[in-house]
Amino acid sequence: MKVLGISFGRKGQNCDIVCKQALLAAKKSGAEVEFINTCHLNIDRCTGCGACDRRMEKGGPCRCVIKDDFPFLEEHILEADGIILSAPVYVLGPVGQFKNLTDRLGPSHDRAYMMQQQQKRMAEGKTKEELMDERLFKDRFLGLISVGGARTENWTSLGLLNMHLFAPSMQMTVVDQMNVYGMGDRVSPVLDERLMERLAAMGEHVAASVGTPREEAKWYGDDKGLCPVCHNRTFTIKDARHVECPICGMYGELKLQGEDVRVEFSPEQIAQCRYRTQGVIDHRNEIDSMTKRCIRVIREQGEQIKELLKPLDEIQELDRKEFTEK
Ligand SMILES: Cc1cc2nc3c(=O)[nH]c(=O)nc-3n(C[C@H](O)[C@H](O)[C@H](O)COP(=O)(O)O)c2cc1C
Repeated sequence: MKVLGISFGRKGQNCDIVCKQALLAAKKSGAEVEFINTCHLNIDRCTGCGACDRRMEKGGPCRCVIKDDFPFLEEHILEADGIILSAPVYVLGPVGQFKNLTDRLGPSHDRAYMMQQQQKRMAEGKTKEELMDERLFKDRFLGLISVGGARTENWTSLGLLNMHLFAPSMQMTVVDQMNVYGMGDRVSPVLDERLMERLAAMGEHVAASVGTPREEAKWYGDDKGLCPVCHNRTFTIKDARHVECPICGMYGELKLQGEDVRVEFSPEQIAQCRYRTQGVIDHRNEIDSMTKRCIRVIREQGEQIKELLKPLDEIQELDRKEFTEK
């Protein structure tokens, strides 16, 4: 069993400390552990070039063409059975580099897309070397730690929530989460014994989850939340009765009973949410049908689109090379 820790904070600072504390406990639970700090790694943004898709469609591997440190992270993520992520809150949400990594792991590693590719290659009788990397189909279990400096929790409001975005594409399962805020006052996490114990428990929880069927994975977070899948309590209000979980992408009914608030989701909604294979298969089918439509519209109306775009040429892009700092 391999548990990987990835810290997006400064080297040796709070995110590293909380992540390593959880990793130590995972190690005591029998896991082989690895740790990566990303602060000085180069993880560029996905440019949307589509080269990874084209490579795969031609029978190649799912591999990004950008030459930076992403393949290093990708390899260790693929090897891991459990992952503990710690990211600093920068302006209410996780630091931008976290999103860069999430995007690079996004569509190009999407479970439904990988399944579709694998089925196609199997049907074509491809050899083991020509099939998709088996590790893409492994279920992984996550512990999320959002780390904020502010004393007030509401200055960390989008930290943990956005860290969940790491999970759905590769169908990883979050089993525990912690919003570790108030770092300014705490000075160092090691001075807070209860916090250190709770972090150790996260390491144990992630290790204990490895090998369970993911839909039966236990939730270890301190708060069960209102969403039965991601266990968060942030919703988009659709109307007086209906809400949407922005993480899982499912619609539920708000139930108010005195002081109590519940949200009920139908089994159908749960089965089709982003954290379930059917949810990503539905999205893949949607993309496939849009691609077909795009190809047809461009073939039929390509010239008209070019004409309609011409007035926008009046707006010219600024040239970075002409800029000198004052
Ligand atoms: C650009 C920037 C923005 C920040 N924004 C927030 C914020 O919105 N809320 C908060 O609680 N802390 C914020 N912080 C504080 C960091 O979350 C805090 O220092 C954290 O411990 C950094 O993690 P590290 O020690 O592992 O580097 C910010 C820090 C920086 C540098």
